[in-house]
Amino acid sequence: MDSTDVIVVGGGLIGCLAARELRADGLSVRIVDRSLVGREASYHAAGMLAPQSEAEEDSPMFRIALQSARLFPGLAEDLYNEVGIDVRFRSEGTFHVAFEDAELENFQELVARQHAVGLTAEIIGPELARREEPALSEEIIGVLSFPEDHQIDNRRLMEAVVASCKKRKVDVVEQAPARELIRDQAGRVCGVSTTAGEFAAGTVVMAAGCWSSLVKGFDVPVEPVKGQILLLELMVPPFRRVLRSADAYLVARLDGRVLIGATMERVGYDKTVSAQAVGALLESARQMVPSLTAAFGGEAWAGLRPATPDGMPAIGWLDEGLMSATGHFRNGILLAPITAQMVADQLSGRPPHPDLPAFDPRRFRGSSQVD
Ligand code: GLY
Repeated sequence: MDSTDVIVVGGGLIGCLAARELRADGLSVRIVDRSLVGREASYHAAGMLAPQSEAEEDSPMFRIALQSARLFPGLAEDLYNEVGIDVRFRSEGTFHVAFEDAELENFQELVARQHAVGLTAEIIGPELARREEPALSEEIIGVLSFPEDHQIDNRRLMEAVVASCKKRKVDVVEQAPARELIRDQAGRVCGVSTTAGEFAAGTVVMAAGCWSSLVKGFDVPVEPVKGQILLLELMVPPFRRVLRSADAYLVARLDGRVLIGATMERVGYDKTVSAQAVGALLESARQMVPSLTAAFGGEAWAGLRPATPDGMPAIGWLDEGLMSATGHFRNGILLAPITAQMVADQLSGRPPHPDLPAFDPRRFRGSSQVD
């Protein structure tokens, strides 16, 4: 059996970034992917880097999300220097809009919570908000501004990370769905069996998102949660910041494409797009930005987020020879850099991240419930 120090199962952003870090540590690495690298959840995401606007409370998850968000400017620069791809990290911030008094009241609570942990967030009135983002609807009554919640072009990011992996001589095996973990006589994981053959390794890192659960021998429960996204095209981008409401989020790319996301559906591995969901996304988007009525073109797709029973990622040793790096749910892009560092730190013998125990993948053993 062909052998490397590490096999990463799953060539999404987390798997590829982990592989890239591990190569920097001098380990030989092979990625095995069920289809083409970077063509599942990492491709179907919108690229929001939103630890503050997605967070509910101070927690290990919140802390690693903030730390990971702060890694992006350096990562973008490193990738540009290494492979010449601009991943379009944009630091214009996020507006969460309110249409009702109850939402504004909730914003005040959110602002207080963010200030309590030293973060920037402020409520601004509708006139000022529209001066900043003229495309916003006249119906908004206020905005919660997160000037440090940013965005990145996740497809360009993925392209750059794959190019970096290839440059660093990570071996990439595509169209090779992993079927089963291989164990030695002592029960230690020592490889993976795929439809393209068996591969041996000192350590297997499972980073296959919601497909991780389909690999025999991997016992972290990860359920797919479908997110449908609608993409519209305009001649010029109608706004700069990420815009969100209670019902949808909008991300405008520099070339005038606007992504509108996303549904949350627990329907298994189904990636079909429905007219009903697309219609609802369009309606929510037009409520925030009425000029989207003038958009043309369009495309819709669905991605599958990997959800664990408690909604938090499963990162760390699961068994001897087996590390988990999956279950990132709504935050796969955001948490990819810190997850890659956590994986590499453990495999290369550096001190573990202090919040790592909160993500222990063994916490689900004895429980099969998915909320
Ligand atoms: N992070 C946004 C989403 O999962 O839809």
